[in-house]
Amino acid sequence: MTSAPDNVLTPKIRFDRVTKAYATDSGEPVVALTETSFDIAEGEFVCVVGPSGCGKSTLMQMLAGFHAPSSGQTLVDGVQVRRPDADRGVVFQQANLYPWLTTRGNVELGPRIRGVGKAERREQAERFLQMVGLSLFADRKPYELSGGMQQRAQIARVLVNDPKVILMDEPFGALDALTRERMQVELLQIWRERRKTVVFITHDVEEAIFLGTRVIVMTARPGRVLLDLPVDLPDGLTPAELRADPGFVDLRDTLLDAIHRAQDEVAA
Ligand SMILES: Nc1ncnc2c1ncn2[C@@H]1O[C@H](COP(=O)(O)OP(=O)(O)O)[C@@H](O)[C@H]1O
Ligand SMILES: [Mg+2]
Repeated sequence: MTSAPDNVLTPKIRFDRVTKAYATDSGEPVVALTETSFDIAEGEFVCVVGPSGCGKSTLMQMLAGFHAPSSGQTLVDGVQVRRPDADRGVVFQQANLYPWLTTRGNVELGPRIRGVGKAERREQAERFLQMVGLSLFADRKPYELSGGMQQRAQIARVLVNDPKVILMDEPFGALDALTRERMQVELLQIWRERRKTVVFITHDVEEAIFLGTRVIVMTARPGRVLLDLPVDLPDGLTPAELRADPGFVDLRDTLLDAIHRAQDEVAA
């Protein structure tokens, strides 16, 4: 008997009983994450919310390949993650542009490293600079940009590489409300067009519901999955329309309630 093709059985991403403890100077390790297991299918847009310090960034950094779990495994396409990979694009909380390159130079870097010709990579960079509203700042150096603009440049620099998996750690936290909403809409459009697998960390429950096909709430540190809910709301609504939808309101209340429970555990 031949078995079914791998991609039917293998989730895109699997956290398999992952734990993480960090060594500290005091000698007492910090347990950031206790046994955490969940799967993400190809094309899902999973948002992760939870109290500050509950291990969200840790989870993402293990998936990115920056940290190894203390026990358990992180798998992508059934293969254990051991190091960063260009197929997993990471947008950090803080922009990390190369200061000696212009905005365009930063966005073009990935295609340049992959050997994309000059005209073509310029065109690709331009598309994403436009998307994040930075065309007019293409020739500026990072220090000439505001924090929010640097963050948008970082997002363009990751998306231009067309990674199959996009990891975003509170990427819009530093943006003003209007820019943030625009970026949310653009990101959703990219996801719809190209069916990326996205893991998106946010503090903002409404943002999680607007963007995600699924929202995961983590407990306070040491983190684990407290709640894992699908977002089953009408497609194509604007953020304002969505906020008025009764299903949205219910889901938001359920998620907020879970987050408050998670936070109370810290206080207790
Ligand atoms: N490199 C590190 N060394 C020691 N402790 C760390 C390190 N990174 C994170 N931590 C600790 O692990 C816990 C989880 O951190 P983090 O994953 O950043 O949480 P979150 O992103 O949910 O705010 C926190 O208590 C944090 O202080
Ligand atoms: Mg974090």
